[in-house]
Amino acid sequence: MKVPQMDLKRQYLTIKSEIDSAIQHTIDRCAFVAGEKVNQFEKNFAEYCGVKHAVGISCGTSALYVALRALGIGKGDIVITVPYTFIATVEAIALTGARPVFVDIESKSYNISTKNLREYIEKGCEWNPRENELVDKKTKLKVRVILPVHLYGQMSDMDEIMAIAGEYNLSVLEDAAQAHGAIYKNRKSGSIGHIAAFSFYPSKNLGAFGQGGAVITDNDTLAAKARMLINHGQREKYDYEFEGWNFKMDGFQAAVLDVKLKHLDDWNRARQHNAMMYGKFLKDVDTVMLPEKMLEREHVYYLYVIQVDGRASLQKYLNDENIGSSIAYSIPLHMQNAYKYLGYKMGDFPNTEKCVKGVISLPMFPELTSEEIEYVCEVIKAWCSHK
Ligand SMILES: Cc1ncc(COP(=O)(O)O)c(C=O)c1O
Repeated sequence: MKVPQMDLKRQYLTIKSEIDSAIQHTIDRCAFVAGEKVNQFEKNFAEYCGVKHAVGISCGTSALYVALRALGIGKGDIVITVPYTFIATVEAIALTGARPVFVDIESKSYNISTKNLREYIEKGCEWNPRENELVDKKTKLKVRVILPVHLYGQMSDMDEIMAIAGEYNLSVLEDAAQAHGAIYKNRKSGSIGHIAAFSFYPSKNLGAFGQGGAVITDNDTLAAKARMLINHGQREKYDYEFEGWNFKMDGFQAAVLDVKLKHLDDWNRARQHNAMMYGKFLKDVDTVMLPEKMLEREHVYYLYVIQVDGRASLQKYLNDENIGSSIAYSIPLHMQNAYKYLGYKMGDFPNTEKCVKGVISLPMFPELTSEEIEYVCEVIKAWCSHK
C-alpha cells in the first residue's frame, strides 16, 4: 500500500463538477482580480468565522503583514510571537520594521505558553503608566502586539492571551493559517483577537488552487485600513492615503475557496475522525507521543504530529514502506541564520528545542481511509519493535 502524507487530487475529485463550474463562471464573468467572486467569498468567510469583515488577500504571509500594518505596527515596536512556527509569521513582523520577540511554546499544545508570556512581560518589560504602554527593558522598544499561532490545527489559550493583552494595552493578531474552523470555547479561530490572518495555501484545511489569504476582524477601522493596504493605500480611485502594496486576491482562488468553504466542516470532521483512529491504534505504543487535545478546544488537525525518539529512523522506515511524512519544524526560528540579529542562543526556548527534535507529521487529510491509517500504525508499531 502507498499512503501519501496529503493528497489534494482526491479532494478535487470529490467536488470536481462544483469547482469546474465555479472556475468557468469566473472566466465567463471575467472577474479575475478582486471583484464579484472575491466579494462573495469574503462575505461567506466572515460569516463562517463569526466576524463582521473578511478581506481577501494574495497569501497568508501578506495577510499577516497587512494585519500588522492595519494595527499601525512599524519601526520602534515589538511584536511577541513564538520561535516554533513557519517563518512567515516572523517575516511579516520584520517586514513592518518592528522587532520580533520570542516566547517559548507549551510542549503539549505546541502553542504559545501564556506562563512564559507573562514572565517576559513581568520580568523583561516595564509599564509606563503615563503613556499607557509597555516597554521592553533591554531594547526600550514599545511592546504592541501578541501574535499567537494556532499550530497544527489547535487554538492557543485565547482567554489568557486576551486577558494579558487587556492588562497591558496590547493588540492580538491571531495567526490562524493552520486552523480554519478550529474552535475555542464555541468561538472560531480568528474571531477572538482584534484581527486575524489566514492562509489558503493549497495544503491547508481550506486551500485554494494557488496562493491565497485573508484578514478577518470585527473592527470596522481595521478592516477599512486592511482593504486600502491591499490596494496601494487607495481610498478612492487614484487617491492614495498612504503607501500599501498590491496584495489583492485573485478571482479564481476566491471561486474555488467559496465552493470549498461549504465542505470545510465536513472535512474537519473527517480529519478529527482520522485523528481518533490514529489514537485508537497507537494509544498503547509508549514510545510514541500522540497530539493532545486541550480542554474546551476543537482541534482540526491540519497536521497529525507525533513525537518519537529516533525520528530520522522512523521517517526512513515509513518511506521504505511507501508512507509519506514531513517535519514541521526541524530548525527553530531563533536558531535560523535569518534571525541571528535577534541575539538568541540555543537553550533560550527549551520546549521548542525539544519538540523540533522529535516531531513528525503522519499522513492526514480528510479522504484518508481507515485501512490506510491502520497500515501506517502497523508500520509504526513494527518500527518500534525493531528499534
Ligand atoms: C503558521 C503559518 N503562518 C503563515 C503562513 C503563510 O501563509 P502563505 O504560505 O499563504 O503565505 C503559513 C503557511 O504555511 C503558516 O503555516
